[in-house]
Amino acid sequence: MNNIKENTPVIVGITGASGIELAVATVDLILSLNFNVVLTISSAGRMVWKEEIDESYGETIERWVESGRFTTNQIGDLSAQIASGTYPTLGMAVVPCSMATVAAISNGLSDNLLRRAADVTLKEKRPLVIVPRETPLNAIHLKNMTDLAIAGGIILPPQPAFYLRQKTTAEVVDYIANRTVNALGLIDQLPSRMRYRNDPRNEY
Ligand SMILES: Cc1cc2nc3c(=O)[nH]c(=O)nc-3n(C[C@H](O)[C@H](O)[C@H](O)COP(=O)(O)O)c2cc1C
Repeated sequence: MNNIKENTPVIVGITGASGIELAVATVDLILSLNFNVVLTISSAGRMVWKEEIDESYGETIERWVESGRFTTNQIGDLSAQIASGTYPTLGMAVVPCSMATVAAISNGLSDNLLRRAADVTLKEKRPLVIVPRETPLNAIHLKNMTDLAIAGGIILPPQPAFYLRQKTTAEVVDYIANRTVNALGLIDQLPSRMRYRNDPRNEY
């Protein structure tokens, strides 16, 4: 790995959709691969965090800061570096992504730092991985996601790989985090335990 890649951060945006565990696992994985992370989280994201996660937001941030590869930016800080295309990043994951933020990004509404960073990621042709969470999806959600895919975004719904016969939520979360990091281009391939049982690569 060259130094540019090692030091250039990945942006992670957390919104107020269900599935905060997916965000925690994604940041944990990116840091474990020794990439830098810049995080921004919406106020709704903080609300959902309280509902879904035992480890508090503050404790988790402290743990991530200890890695020496992690910073956070306030959602309202539109002057943060990640709001500018001249600031190099390896891409961005919005995980989980609410339908409100899907709508905002697909319509170019850069009205907070997360949405602006996503807009910048698209315009700079860097990977933007959207992990949308809503069910069922209405026609507006689907249209907005189609527009995002046309604009170059990668829509990665957090669906279990049933063929892997995973038994726990933790296994599914780990799998989605690996798919997200793979889609960002940070890992070339999934761990063998996450491959289809007939995958020829399993022979090696
Ligand atoms: C506990 C809780 C769970 C929610 N889950 C979802 C969800 O799964 N998907 C979604 O699109 N919105 C969900 N919402 C609604 C969003 O939080 C709301 O639309 C908010 O405005 C999103 O703002 P943001 O995208 O800036 O975070 C949820 C809200 C709460 C309080």
